[in-house]
Amino acid sequence: MFARNAARAFSAHSRMFSSSAARQTKVCVLGAGGGIGQPLSLLLKTDPLVSSLSLYDIRGAPGVAADVSHVDTASEVNGYPADNLDEALEGVKVVVIPAGVPRKPGMTRDDLFNTNASIVRDLASAIGRVAPDAHVLVISNPVNSTVPIVASVLEKAGVFDPRRLFGVTTLDVVRAAKFVSGLVGATPAETPITVVGGHSGVTIVPLLSQNNLGQSLTGETYEKVVHRIQYGGDEVVKAKDGAGSATLSMAYAGAKFANALLRGLNGEKGVITPTFVKSDLFASQGIDFFSSSVELGVNGVEKIHPIGNISPEEQKLIDACLPELKKNIEKGKSFVAQSS
Ligand SMILES: NC(=O)c1ccc[n+]([C@@H]2O[C@H](COP(=O)([O-])OP(=O)(O)OC[C@H]3O[C@@H](n4cnc5c(N)ncnc54)[C@H](O)[C@@H]3O)[C@@H](O)[C@H]2O)c1
Repeated sequence: MFARNAARAFSAHSRMFSSSAARQTKVCVLGAGGGIGQPLSLLLKTDPLVSSLSLYDIRGAPGVAADVSHVDTASEVNGYPADNLDEALEGVKVVVIPAGVPRKPGMTRDDLFNTNASIVRDLASAIGRVAPDAHVLVISNPVNSTVPIVASVLEKAGVFDPRRLFGVTTLDVVRAAKFVSGLVGATPAETPITVVGGHSGVTIVPLLSQNNLGQSLTGETYEKVVHRIQYGGDEVVKAKDGAGSATLSMAYAGAKFANALLRGLNGEKGVITPTFVKSDLFASQGIDFFSSSVELGVNGVEKIHPIGNISPEEQKLIDACLPELKKNIEKGKSFVAQSS
């Protein structure tokens, strides 16, 4: 029984990573020793599109690398301790950043700004110097501010390419599919929900009206599920009672997004997923980063899709999102402007 369940779970996991081409890629995780970094490194080790994994952290990366390297997939794994950031970044095509501190109960993602802003700024500066052509996937919170921080640092270094910078909002998409599926009695595969905006509280805007099952939810049920998608992270922070925020579901979401990007980079067509990128959609209102469905291709961002038709309730959610998102983006930009 156990063996059958385990086999089923493994085959479902393998389906998460579909590989359509042979080209493989060196991927680096910055913050690989952490709650997200460890399971994320493990999942990336099982992705056939990753040829080499470079694991860096100020604490514990060589140990994680030694452990993960025994997994019997083809990719090679190297771990780098605190002083070896530049070596870790050499030749990498994709960098995933889950470095930084997570929330404790009662904290918002913005409360993490003071610590994580400088961590992300310094890592971005090393990326600009050593791996200027890399695609950068930012997990560290507050994503609404850390992504503009990376952009500003790379811009200052003269190597910013907006097609290669992504805020990972996939956990919001994963939660939306899961929560809505439970309410309508379907599988999450039948309830893919586009989530736009940003990645914190009211800036998270799920577009249930664009899914034929999702649009059946109305009234109090609708309000509650929207709130749950926006604040689902708080459920985990509360349940972990001071021991951190989402790590396992986040590692799953991070690996899922990385696989989508790798498939796009490998030439697969039609890879479309929401992600927080430099975007023209609301630039006229001074909001130049926004998450919407993005087509991923050989250069990274291939096409940014508009948000499409939305309901009056969703328009209200967008109206609430924009001012908060604008503040968060400006905070990130001015942090870098004041940094030196
Ligand atoms: N994008 C999302 O949806 C999402 C979801 C959950 C958590 N997060 C964020 O991800 C981040 C990491 O969360 P976690 O639970 O893994 O935290 P954690 O404390 O368990 O791990 C963070 C790791 O970063 C390392 N680190 C700190 N400074 C570093 C530096 N300068 N260089 C390299 N590594 C460094 C730490 O040593 C630690 O191992 C937090 O900011 C958290 O808020 C994002």
